[in-house]
Amino acid sequence: MSLPASPKTILITGATGGIGSALAIAYAGPGQCLILQGRNADGLAQLAARCQALGARVVTQVLDVRQLEALTAWLHQVSAQERIDLVIVNAGVNTHVKADGSGEDWAAVQALIATNVLAAMATVTAVLPAMRSRGAGQVALVSSLAAYFGLPITPSYCASKAALKAYGEALRGGLSVQGICVNVVMPGYVQSPMCTDMPGPKPFLWTAEKAALAIQRGLARNQARISFPFPLNLGTWFLAVLPPSWSTRILQWLHYA
Ligand SMILES: NC(=O)c1ccc[n+]([C@@H]2O[C@H](COP(=O)([O-])OP(=O)(O)OC[C@H]3O[C@@H](n4cnc5c(N)ncnc54)[C@H](OP(=O)(O)O)[C@@H]3O)[C@@H](O)[C@H]2O)c1
Repeated sequence: MSLPASPKTILITGATGGIGSALAIAYAGPGQCLILQGRNADGLAQLAARCQALGARVVTQVLDVRQLEALTAWLHQVSAQERIDLVIVNAGVNTHVKADGSGEDWAAVQALIATNVLAAMATVTAVLPAMRSRGAGQVALVSSLAAYFGLPITPSYCASKAALKAYGEALRGGLSVQGICVNVVMPGYVQSPMCTDMPGPKPFLWTAEKAALAIQRGLARNQARISFPFPLNLGTWFLAVLPPSWSTRILQWLHYA
C-alpha cells in the first residue's frame, strides 16, 4: 500500500487529555482542520483556541464516548460534513487493583471496557463507511505496550489494550485493499493525568509532546505498529514471547506485582 497523504482533516477522541492535546497541537497549522472530541467543555475550548492560534480550523464536540448511539450519530454527521483523512481513536481510561488485595472495582471495569473497547470499536465502525466510499483514509488505534503481557496491577486495562491491538491488526489486513490504513499505537509511559494516577514504576517516561511526534511520524510512514520507547517496547514484546511463567516472575522481580 502507498503511504497516506499528509492528513489535512484529523479527528481525535479524548483530545483534552495529555496525549490527545499534544497530538492536536502537533497537527495544528494553516490549512489543517482538527475535529476534537472531549468531555470537558472548558478544556476543549482552551485547546481549540491554542490550535486556532496556530492557524487550524477547529470543530469541537463535547460527548461521553460511552453513549454509543450519540457517538455514532455525531461521527456519521461529521463524516458527511468533513472529508476526514485521519481518525485517532485515543479516548481511554485506566483502573487498577486495590491495595487491600480485593482486586478491581467492577463498576470501574465496566466503564473501562465501555470506553477503551466498545466506544473505540464504535468509533471505527462509524467512520469507515465514508472512508470506504472514498477509497482512502487512516485510522489509528491507541493501544499500549501493556497489550503485550498482562500486568498484575492493571488487568482490565491490559485486556482492553490487547483487544484494541488485535482489532487494529485484523482491520489493517482487510482494509488495506480498500485504500484505508490502520495503525496500532503502543505507547509506554507518557506524562498525563492517567499516567500520574497509575501506581507502579514508570521507567523511560516520555513527555506527551515527544510521544505525539513519534505517533505523527509513525502514522506518516503508515507503520503497522507504532511502539515506543525503546528499549521498553522490546522488553514488553519479549514478555509475550517468553514462557508466561517466566514473564510473571520477571514482572514480580521488577515490582509490577
Ligand atoms: N499516558 C500513558 O502512559 C499511556 C500509555 C499507553 C497508552 N495510553 C493511552 O493513550 C490514550 C490517551 O491517554 P492519556 O495518557 O493522554 O490520558 P488522559 O490524559 O487521562 O486522557 C484521556 C482522554 O480520554 C478522555 N476520555 C476518557 N473517558 C472518556 C469518555 N467516556 N468519553 C469521552 N472522553 C473520554 C479523557 O477525557 P476527560 O478528561 O473528560 O476524562 C481524556 O481526554 C489512552 O487511550 C491511554 O490508554 C496512555
